[in-house]
Amino acid sequence: MFVCLGNICRSPLAHAVVEHKLSERGLSGSIEVESSGTSGYHIGERSDARMRTVAARYGVNINHRSRQFQTGDFDFYDLVLTMDQSNYADVIRLARSDSDKKKVKVFLQYDPESTPPHEVPDPYYGGSKGFDTVYAMVNRAADALIDSVLEVV
Ligand code: 4NP
Repeated sequence: MFVCLGNICRSPLAHAVVEHKLSERGLSGSIEVESSGTSGYHIGERSDARMRTVAARYGVNINHRSRQFQTGDFDFYDLVLTMDQSNYADVIRLARSDSDKKKVKVFLQYDPESTPPHEVPDPYYGGSKGFDTVYAMVNRAADALIDSVLEVV
């Protein structure tokens, strides 16, 4: 479960990129991938057109409707991967137990080249270059994440 603030830019991209990479490895459907937002600002909306455009350039199709993260998601997902430290704090606040808390990680910590604070910057109020940066960061961390997850399953 990938989590950002609005679930219209960063986490739907991570969601789509990981599904795309799993499909390239012949592993479609083997891992349940989803995304959500800590806020309810954009519930039901399609992902940001600027994010969809950048993803499409790399052959990645984002087809998602924004939904809010819920406490019950801890029961279904093994990993809850946040895009920044603020999302991390918000999700940790919803955890009911140590077992819930252990599932929550900052996504970029999977990328050995990432440096603190391990954040995918929020591109929403910035220019188009921000979306390219987000794509590059998410793409690199996604490979590392998949390698790590496949090692333990
Ligand atoms: P996201 O980007 O968290 O990557 O989906 C944002 C989208 C919308 C808002 C903030 C961040 N917003 O404030 O509406």
